[in-house]
Amino acid sequence: MQTLSVDLGDRSYPIYIGEGLLSQPELLLNHIAGGQVLVVTNDTVAPLYLEIIRESLSDLDYSELILPDGEQHKSLEVLSAIYDKLLQDKHNRTTTLVALGGGVIGDMTGYAAASYQRGVNFIQIPTTLLSQVDSSVGGKTGVNHPLGKNMIGAFHQPQCVIADTQTLTTLPQRELSAGIAEVIKYGLICDAEFYQWLEQHIEDLLACDQTKLAEAIYRSCDNKAKVVASDEREAGVRAILNLGHTFGHAIETAQGYGNWLHGEAVAAGMLLAARLSEKMQWIGAADVESVRSMLLRAKLPVAPPAMTCEQFLSIMAVDKKVLDGRLRLVLLKQMGEAIITSDIAEQDLRDILVEAGVAP
Ligand code: NAD
Ligand code: GLY
Repeated sequence: MQTLSVDLGDRSYPIYIGEGLLSQPELLLNHIAGGQVLVVTNDTVAPLYLEIIRESLSDLDYSELILPDGEQHKSLEVLSAIYDKLLQDKHNRTTTLVALGGGVIGDMTGYAAASYQRGVNFIQIPTTLLSQVDSSVGGKTGVNHPLGKNMIGAFHQPQCVIADTQTLTTLPQRELSAGIAEVIKYGLICDAEFYQWLEQHIEDLLACDQTKLAEAIYRSCDNKAKVVASDEREAGVRAILNLGHTFGHAIETAQGYGNWLHGEAVAAGMLLAARLSEKMQWIGAADVESVRSMLLRAKLPVAPPAMTCEQFLSIMAVDKKVLDGRLRLVLLKQMGEAIITSDIAEQDLRDILVEAGVAP
């Protein structure tokens, strides 16, 4: 097992990464302060991993809640079922919520923990690659609104993150690829050496090689933990973690939540961001081709779906990074270095969208 720390003063917490961690109940129990616990999961993950968690927590005042699976259920309505369960089972302020699942369960359970009785403890047990390398770390929690992705939420850090690589053996190939998109992101935004490592090992990740996955998760979380420690609430540099996400959120919102996976939309978005970075003359055509080839090797989409420029621009205008009415995007100053800029000509944006097949 490898352990990393997210350094946030008295809210610092460990990330445990390794194979078979769900079989080590003390990892979980050491971070539960009170006597009550509610495990939140979904109807896909529950048959796979709930029993082992239930056994680990059998000496506590234990509740569990199994939600419907899917991004379309990351809603205020489904969130409300978590509050219902907490109140029905008389959970008090010292309760701990345990999120067992992917990013949807993690984000929703985290937000329930942030808001129930003005904030209770929670633990992340991410079971998708995407959630192990990204969503379980850093304390962003929330739900979608029909008009915008992740628009209702809060910053609320977990007590710990337990990333068991063995859970990834049951993950569908498409979901594994979606997680690899976020792994590639770290190489592009802040770790050129890791990007080169990925060029060597991307197929090992697709083949679910446990050692290589653990290394990729460690390096991704290490990069993320450093960014989060320096800018927890995204006043500045944390926004680089959103490379490709502004385009990606537009794709997810326009296509209907759940049709394009988050990581797939981010992949197509990262290539659009790379193309715009080339327009700015920060990176070259060979760099754009390298990103495209890496995404293709990871079995990720490299072209946006059938959408119009107006759809992209209108959804991107309500992005959380919009400041004083001006769109801000994360682009690549060079391979391995991201910058956040609002200095974007609308015509350049339209040009790269049209060049990528978006209707004018
Ligand atoms: P997900 O939670 O929908 O999980 C993907 C699918 O895999 C689901 O069907 C799930 O039930 C299934 N699954 C989970 N673990 C499994 C396992 N071990 N074996 C088999 N199936 C399993 O999607 P995701 O990609 O994990 O997360 C995407 C969500 O994360 C989005 O809502 C996105 O907005 C959010 N996100 C949040 C942050 C953040 O910082 N909070 C960062 C990135 C993404
Ligand atoms: N996934 C972006 C962030 O955590 O800030």
